[in-house]
Amino acid sequence: MTRAEREAFGVYVHWPFCLSKCPYCDFNSHVRRAPIDEERFARAFAREIESTAERVPRRDVTSIFLGGGTPSLMQPQTVGAILDAIGKYWCVTSDAEVTLEANPTSVEATRFRGYRTAGVNRVSLGVQALDDGSLKALGRLHSAREALDAVAIARSAFDRYSFDLIYARPDQTPQMWADELKLAISEAAEHLSLYQLTIEEGTPFFGLHAAGKLATPDETLARALYDVTQEVCTAQGLPAYEISNHARPGAECRHNLIYWRGEEYAGIGPGAHGRLDINGIRHATAAEKRPEAWLMRVESTGDGVVIDDMLNSEERADEFLLMGLRLKEGIDPKRYAALSGRPLDPRRIAVLREEGAIIVDAGGRLRVTQAGFPVLDAVVADLAA
Ligand SMILES: C[S@@+](CC[C@H](N)C(=O)[O-])C[C@H]1O[C@@H](n2cnc3c(N)ncnc32)[C@H](O)[C@@H]1O
Ligand code: SF4
Repeated sequence: MTRAEREAFGVYVHWPFCLSKCPYCDFNSHVRRAPIDEERFARAFAREIESTAERVPRRDVTSIFLGGGTPSLMQPQTVGAILDAIGKYWCVTSDAEVTLEANPTSVEATRFRGYRTAGVNRVSLGVQALDDGSLKALGRLHSAREALDAVAIARSAFDRYSFDLIYARPDQTPQMWADELKLAISEAAEHLSLYQLTIEEGTPFFGLHAAGKLATPDETLARALYDVTQEVCTAQGLPAYEISNHARPGAECRHNLIYWRGEEYAGIGPGAHGRLDINGIRHATAAEKRPEAWLMRVESTGDGVVIDDMLNSEERADEFLLMGLRLKEGIDPKRYAALSGRPLDPRRIAVLREEGAIIVDAGGRLRVTQAGFPVLDAVVADLAA
């Protein structure tokens, strides 16, 4: 069976610690003064993997993603112990994609070879910007030079790597962004994640923005920056395959495609989300977010799950639409109808087509156009209504 024919099953593992908290970030990440007891966490990860595999046994794991927080703060043997546990309770396919998210500091880059030996075959580096002023403003602990050195080490250690950049930063012009992007593409072999800066509630950036001390681009400038992103990446052979993700054809992140295609995955670790199919019903799970509370919960009950919702057909179909329309390949409307029990409203499709926000391609797939992507939320809301 080829990979495309096999059912995908992903395992996401969340490492919730960082060296410092970036002022824009609202991910489940925590800074601790005392050293982290990695062996204890590794045992708890293994325990939660075992109890999840009891709920969804006999899966072939096609991808693993170690995300954070900052997983590159883990010792390679901790990563090895987690991967071993996944292989013990499930079957990991020989061509599984195993990604680790890394911060591009020199200390972390020294562990890359150890990660490879442990079984990681792809890294995703949080470069964020390629100029030191921006990196400082973003509260990052690395310089542009250090980040590029880490990219070079990643290149020598792994066949596959990607890096993240944040754009629509304060004072960034389309020309500056185009130049930065070209430099990024010359360093990124096959994959780039390009995120527009979002001001998240509860972060220091939110307070600064509200106080008028942090200027973000207005709608016109944001649109110009988005258009530059598409133009430069397409011209350089890394077109968008998802609203924020660009790859050379065939180099897409297979793990993240599982989320966007509505396939099945287990969430392991503090705050991790999962989508599990049990007796034909899709369960949406989420674990306790606080690392130490998660740890104690796993140690006493075997898992950290605090939410386990059975999705009804409407919820399932809405999620399929919301996630699937982020992809350039779009969705199969027949699949939506099978999930929800009713087709998408043809009148709404007709209006959105007329507005140029979506197309229905020759194969019958419904896709958002380049003009539609900047207003994706409105398109989804319209179709789901
Ligand atoms: C969960 S973070 C983990 C990556 C890693 N800890 C790091 O910072 O290098 C994944 C990515 O989300 C992006 N990100 C986080 N907060 C963001 C925000 N407010 N706006 C845009 N992108 C953001 C960053 O590009 C980051 O690399
Ligand atoms: S952006 Fe990355 S390093 Fe910064 S706080 Fe968030 S998860 Fe941690």
